[in-house]
Amino acid sequence: MTLLKGKVALVTGAARGIGKAIALKFASEGADVAFTDLLIDEAGLATQKEIEAFGVRGKGYASNAANFEEAHKVTGEIVKEFGRIDILVNNAGITRDGLMMRMSEQQWDMVININLKSAFNFIHAITPVMMKQKGGSIINMASVVGVSGNAGQANYAASKAGMIGLAKSVAKELGSRGIRANAIAPGFIITDMTAGLPEDVKTEWAKQIPLRRGGTPEDVANVATFLASDLSSYVTGQTIHCCGGMNT
Ligand code: NAI
Repeated sequence: MTLLKGKVALVTGAARGIGKAIALKFASEGADVAFTDLLIDEAGLATQKEIEAFGVRGKGYASNAANFEEAHKVTGEIVKEFGRIDILVNNAGITRDGLMMRMSEQQWDMVININLKSAFNFIHAITPVMMKQKGGSIINMASVVGVSGNAGQANYAASKAGMIGLAKSVAKELGSRGIRANAIAPGFIITDMTAGLPEDVKTEWAKQIPLRRGGTPEDVANVATFLASDLSSYVTGQTIHCCGGMNT
């Protein structure tokens, strides 16, 4: 399949989980894929190999997305090596849940920096590249809780609401330059991030989902592929929910 043939993608936090599924789906559609993660460990090397197995270029870069300088540095390296960047997926993210009364300043700062500031860092670094190319697609990984809020996740929900506001603002600022920006709001997706939740919490979530199942990373990757490709050439500033109908 060739929906993304000739395009270069950068996916943050893609050694595993949803980011990895996106990187592999993009590769299967013909894109060259650069990705970042905190470390390029065994999981990262496996991701790189699996990308290359599609006959495209793939490379993992160790980089802390929350760090402004590191994000700019790695973006420069990727442009040098891959020649361009057409697609940016701001996927890196963490949770540090806790009720407001007990949430530490560190819990708040970590989640805002890794989930939201990271997207600012990469959009800031990539905007001149995409402006020069006169086009690009930016995808921010938000969450349904960024739209609805969630008890015990004030930091996470705020960061994800920020991802939506950021995508909308960038869409307005850069639309005239051919650069699109959208957000994906996944619901309950089965990855390392959610695997550790207690069984009763997972059962409760599933009951509230009209499609009666948690999503897969591939479900989210399919939406990302639509937003990355020219199939969505008239879609910008939007948030697509990928939640089995949970937030309806
Ligand atoms: P995950 O924990 O499986 O993978 C996240 C990846 O990001 C990991 O490889 C991790 O090392 C990397 N990462 C963490 N901090 C980083 C940093 N500072 N710099 C670079 N990389 C970093 O998580 P999952 O589930 O794949 O989540 C991916 C994104 O999707 C996150 O933004 C998450 O908030 C979002 N999301 C996930 C949902 C779910 O149910 N799993 C639901 C809604 C949104």
